[in-house]
Amino acid sequence: MTTTAPAPAVTVQKVGGRLGAVLTGVRLGGDLPAETVAEIRAALLEHKVVFFRGQDHLDEEQHEAFGRLLGTPVAHPTVPSADGRYSFPVDSDHGGRANQWHSDVTFVPAYPAFSILRAVVVPPYGGNTLWANTATAYARLPQPLRRLADELRAVHSNDYDYAALRPDALPEQLARFREVFTSTKFLTEHPVVRVHPETGERVLLLGNFVQRIKGLTAPDSRALFQLFQSHIERPENTVRWQWQAGDVAIWDNRATQHYGVDDSDDHERKLRRVTIDGDVPVGVDGRTSLLLSPESVPDPAFGVASGASSTSDTSGVPAAEAATA
Ligand SMILES: [Fe+2]
Repeated sequence: MTTTAPAPAVTVQKVGGRLGAVLTGVRLGGDLPAETVAEIRAALLEHKVVFFRGQDHLDEEQHEAFGRLLGTPVAHPTVPSADGRYSFPVDSDHGGRANQWHSDVTFVPAYPAFSILRAVVVPPYGGNTLWANTATAYARLPQPLRRLADELRAVHSNDYDYAALRPDALPEQLARFREVFTSTKFLTEHPVVRVHPETGERVLLLGNFVQRIKGLTAPDSRALFQLFQSHIERPENTVRWQWQAGDVAIWDNRATQHYGVDDSDDHERKLRRVTIDGDVPVGVDGRTSLLLSPESVPDPAFGVASGASSTSDTSGVPAAEAATA
């Protein structure tokens, strides 16, 4: 009788009541068996953010290779990569330490489905990351507020007021931010409530790239944004992770927001992120998101830009990386 060694069992342990789980028994890389990838994906969809300790063996190439098992890696639309082709620097010295609650890259229509963040250098204290569950934030709203949210659309932009958020930022930091992050100014209209393409859950689609709620005055827009956003950020709706070098966190960027806490003073903090292509959001009424400007997402220095997908493919399987040339 011949037997093949079974893939090691993945264990899942919840770390927050509303989201977050630690997965053990996995050595991440590009050569994981399909059944293990399926288990990771299922845990990711259920728990929204999953954590792995002790993945120090990963380098830029293996990080990206693992990412390809979840979908198509995509480049940031404006910020150049770090050492690897699709590896994005999330560093203490990159663009200052500004942070706000957000989902990644929501200023383009098909913003990333997943982000995979790997800790390379962690500070001796602080520098934690928080995630919030945007599905439970919606589900627990009183019904009149859910009905209101269902009908709203919001305009997201990467050209937000960085200076207002960072009153202590140095002039050269502001100049660098404007030069790099907003080298192309994007405006995208999204539904405030998105139907998740894989789980069918309704999620709130907000965060710090929101410029205004469509059709409202600026004061009404701010008040309404704050009302819904405050339900996302409630401590009970979040999980907090204290990084160790070699940790990997993967989150469903369509069902979460996150926040990197800036409390490690001048200590170095260096993480690398690979993002996986998403699809165009669809609202409760079936209307999709719209890129308002520019006319299309420009090509990055290489590969496919995040958000460049133009179809609302709901299969959860990203299109082939056809435009890599
Ligand atoms: Fe982020």
